[in-house]
Amino acid sequence: MRAWFAQPMSQPPSWHLACVVCDATYPGLELRYRCDCSATLEVIHNLNECNLTREILDSRLASKNPLDRSGVWRFRELILPLGDVTLEQIAAVRGEGSTQLYNATKIGKEVGVSNLFLKHEGENPTGSFKDRGMTVGITVARHIGMNAVACASTGNTSASMASYAAITEMDAIVFIPEGKIAYGKLSQALAYGAKTIQIQGDFDDAMALVQEVCASEGIYLVNSINPFRIEGQKAIAFEIMQDLDWQVPDWIVLPGGNLGNNTAISKGLLELHEIGIIDSLPRIAVVQAAGANPLYTAWSDGENIVPVKADTIATAIKIGSPVSWRKSLRGIEALNGVVTEVNDNQIMDAKAIVDASGIGAEPASCATVAGIKRLVEEGTIDSSSKVVGILTGHLLKDPDVVVNYHTSKLEGIVSNRANAPISANADLDEIRRLIRQ
Ligand code: F0G
Repeated sequence: MRAWFAQPMSQPPSWHLACVVCDATYPGLELRYRCDCSATLEVIHNLNECNLTREILDSRLASKNPLDRSGVWRFRELILPLGDVTLEQIAAVRGEGSTQLYNATKIGKEVGVSNLFLKHEGENPTGSFKDRGMTVGITVARHIGMNAVACASTGNTSASMASYAAITEMDAIVFIPEGKIAYGKLSQALAYGAKTIQIQGDFDDAMALVQEVCASEGIYLVNSINPFRIEGQKAIAFEIMQDLDWQVPDWIVLPGGNLGNNTAISKGLLELHEIGIIDSLPRIAVVQAAGANPLYTAWSDGENIVPVKADTIATAIKIGSPVSWRKSLRGIEALNGVVTEVNDNQIMDAKAIVDASGIGAEPASCATVAGIKRLVEEGTIDSSSKVVGILTGHLLKDPDVVVNYHTSKLEGIVSNRANAPISANADLDEIRRLIRQ
């Protein structure tokens, strides 16, 4: 028997789940993802009881305890307040987080910002930010006695879930839209041993199906509708603040798909501010692909989300009916945020800049940089602002799109920054000539 079964934790009454629409509350570790009124739920912490300080968090950076070295569990009191958390209580720790915050001056010059930083979440164990939420989601799955987990995914959630489930010896079932996820991500789900079901439909169809399947088959759902996934992803914001020595930037910019991540980052920032670890709040900007822009439309029109048929080259954010839109909009409002959209050509040109700088990221991540460029051009972001952009996934998640861009084979995209491979005979003179050109 694994350690987390041997040491059940009593649930302190001070934290709980709350509905984002009505007044209903539920116990912290209850198996549910929605309120009885069907709206989504969020974890409410008793922040009065949280005695974290900058000094405590900074001292953990020098620790050899794997929990302190994890860029998620280092902030454990604000993630899962389960008393004195021990390593045995966490289902799987893979050193998630602790990603690089790049000082991206060169990219900043291209997009018009003098003080640009890029937080590269592609440097997580499975190559995307999803690992931060997954270590928490899988831990909770174990605590409430589940043996199988499932998700619908545009690729990264499934890769992360498959890995963490394998480590924890849980069954993993993945629902993906057939032919619409990048090969790097599909390879990961298959390789880590998940049962991978390709749906004849899009992500939104897969998302609707997986919720039904989990409810009827007793499987734990680890999409970002799961409030504990959000708790783990808050650590991106915590870590950015710690990377910047707790000096708050003017803006945090990130892409939006199912809208879990911007919800998480807003929530984390508000909590960090409430307990006094940061003195002010940054503004947040969420960038959508123009072909998958229901949040942008809702935010611009001041209306509720109207689902769209999504289409974009950034397959990670090809989502037309985002689950977490209500929580997401609330967080954007609380941080005086904005929502923008960029088209596929702008995404791919921004990607070429990010890649050529030596950092590199997958297309959805580069919507961040394209979005910063647009917001600077429109005057929303001042060129002297301190801006942190989040790169959400690794360049190698989608190598096809890279090669097709640089060989000008992407339909409807002008490869403005192509770096095509050069064919040559195995002839020294010819190669010398090519090199000197
Ligand atoms: N960037 C990448 C690389 C992603 O994989 C995702 C989401 C997002 C941005 C958007 O984050 O959904 O929280 O707004 N990918 C999910 C998946 C949907 O299934 O991997 P979000």
